[in-house]
Amino acid sequence: MSAPSPFFSDPPRQDRGGSQKNSSVRIAAFGDVHAGAEMCGRLHEQFAHLPERADVLLLAGDLTKCGTPDEARVLADELGPLPVPKLAVLGNHDYHADQQDKVTAVLEDSGIRVLDGQAEIVELGGQGGQGGVRLGVAGVKGFGGGFAGACGSDFGEPEMKAFVGHTKRLAEQLERRLTDLAEAGVDFRVALMHYSPIPETLQGERLEIYPFLGSYLLAEAVDRAGADLALHGHAHGGSEKGTTPAGVHVRNVAQPVIKAPYRVYCLSAAGEPDCEAPS
Ligand SMILES: [Fe+2]
Ligand SMILES: [Fe+2]
Repeated sequence: MSAPSPFFSDPPRQDRGGSQKNSSVRIAAFGDVHAGAEMCGRLHEQFAHLPERADVLLLAGDLTKCGTPDEARVLADELGPLPVPKLAVLGNHDYHADQQDKVTAVLEDSGIRVLDGQAEIVELGGQGGQGGVRLGVAGVKGFGGGFAGACGSDFGEPEMKAFVGHTKRLAEQLERRLTDLAEAGVDFRVALMHYSPIPETLQGERLEIYPFLGSYLLAEAVDRAGADLALHGHAHGGSEKGTTPAGVHVRNVAQPVIKAPYRVYCLSAAGEPDCEAPS
């Protein structure tokens, strides 16, 4: 699916309309699969038709139950062979065993690129270097802290400073990577996170735990740099759809929320990401 495409130097949005065929991208996404040994041999069937339905697969963290390389290997074996570009961020569960580096290595060895404060440009479609779409994905795990009117601040004990400081650092990385992608002139930009940038997609969760589910700092980063879509997971009891204060579309793709193995979102110059029926 991946192919060389021409370099677009900051293409104006209206140029995307010049070729209907190549002016959109289909993004399959999910989070919170929490893979474990019992899923061995059972996942790939759920994703068998994905390459016909989507151009790329994005994984929004909590890929394992407890963050062991063996659990990651289950997911890697099941999804690695899929013939589409695959990019992921880790979630808090993937850090639990303090083996996140090994988890990352297992996933990357299978062809699942793990973003931890990095951005990747995926070249999609096109023939002979012409007419392709360049999708930029900036990935960070994100972290908590809460939202406007009910958030933590980096004040007081070192533990509190460390908590909020972690979120700040990741939000700054996200903003820089989204800005890098804009400067590279990609056609579409996606912010891929595990924690939520907005409270809207947490609706359904207990209000008391919102500060552990996401942070407004992530939304500020997305809004300052700009993006076409922001994806996250983590909030199993939340809601699928929301927008940042500046209007960037946000989707909570945690499997318990989308109630499907994955969701497919179509990005086009038209604006709001259309949702295709999942498998
Ligand atoms: Fe989860
Ligand atoms: Fe999580």
